[in-house]
Amino acid sequence: MPDLSKITCIEDLRVVAKRRVPRMFYDYADSGAWTESTYRANESDFHKIKLRQRVAVNMEGRSTRSTMIGQDVAMPVAIAPTGLTGMQHADGEILGARAAKAFGVPFTLSTMSICSLEDIAEHTGRHPFWFQLYVMKDRDFIERLIERARAANVSALQLTLDLQILGQRHKDIKNGLSTPPKPTIANMINLATKPHWCLGMLGTKRRTFGNIAGHAKGVKDLSSLSSWTAEQFDPALSWADVEWIKKRWGGKLILKGIMDVEDARLAASSGADALIVSNHGGRQLDGAPSSIAALPAIVDAVGSEIEVWMDGGIRSGQDVLKARALGARGTLIGRSFLYGLGAYGQAGVTRALQIIHKELDVTMAFCGRTDIENVDSSILLPGTF
Ligand code: GLV
Repeated sequence: MPDLSKITCIEDLRVVAKRRVPRMFYDYADSGAWTESTYRANESDFHKIKLRQRVAVNMEGRSTRSTMIGQDVAMPVAIAPTGLTGMQHADGEILGARAAKAFGVPFTLSTMSICSLEDIAEHTGRHPFWFQLYVMKDRDFIERLIERARAANVSALQLTLDLQILGQRHKDIKNGLSTPPKPTIANMINLATKPHWCLGMLGTKRRTFGNIAGHAKGVKDLSSLSSWTAEQFDPALSWADVEWIKKRWGGKLILKGIMDVEDARLAASSGADALIVSNHGGRQLDGAPSSIAALPAIVDAVGSEIEVWMDGGIRSGQDVLKARALGARGTLIGRSFLYGLGAYGQAGVTRALQIIHKELDVTMAFCGRTDIENVDSSILLPGTF
């Protein structure tokens, strides 16, 4: 067990992850589309929002406990679905799910994960988790995926609506991203500097897309998989498909990737349980506003009808508190989770959650609140949000 007592912020984890994770996978996680302006704004817009410091308020007996779609959470933070997580660290999704379970926050598995739905169920004692679904043209495959999710004890489906086509990510193109990495000279030189990562990968069988390979027609290996993915994501996805998936699934449904008030209204009237204000971590439409900037208008429009959550740019518990103050009942962390995982595996994810929790708890107290359920926009300095 590494001593992580000197790891005091998410940035510390990012620095170690950058050192340990092969460049193409670190870059895959830590980059945005095109000029990366939206990716950067997700973080920097949080910094513009100022908190009101209050004093001589009794700070005893604080609680960050809350609920997300009725599920108890130790803090209003869930682990976001992230693609290729098992390439940040061997068996990454299993480690992330275990850390989330122990901490008392939800874990979301991506369709594009390395560990499969069945892996997560088997290695977490069938603890309920969430599953993120991409809609592919092959609806038989989607039906089977939904059935597999049900069998794996998935308790909510997160349907991603903002990736009918892929945003252009310059770093991935330049790095020749593939899973596993191709044996080019540049890759071999880079891998030679990542012994910890290589050892982990040698010790696991999970090096391909576990939910897809062997389950979808025509996908046997990784080279056919990448072209299959490009061909299979359904560019014709519509609200009728949302309805179809809602019926097929029949359980809790969360719609991810909502950035516009009109879409938020459609999401609310679809009967989903929650929507996530998300620009996909700035990985899709560069030039879209930050998620935190888009949040207030969406909360205003539909917050009384549907739970509104957000992701994008959360690197501290202060960011969680600001999102909550602006009406997000829940938040999701993607990169903060991946930095922890890439740096130290399960212990790193636990550390990331501890750091965020501590920052949330202390900041809430400085703002004169002891219960996250009583946090609203009055903790923010007017004119800064
Ligand atoms: C997939 O979700 C990605 O953003 O690459």
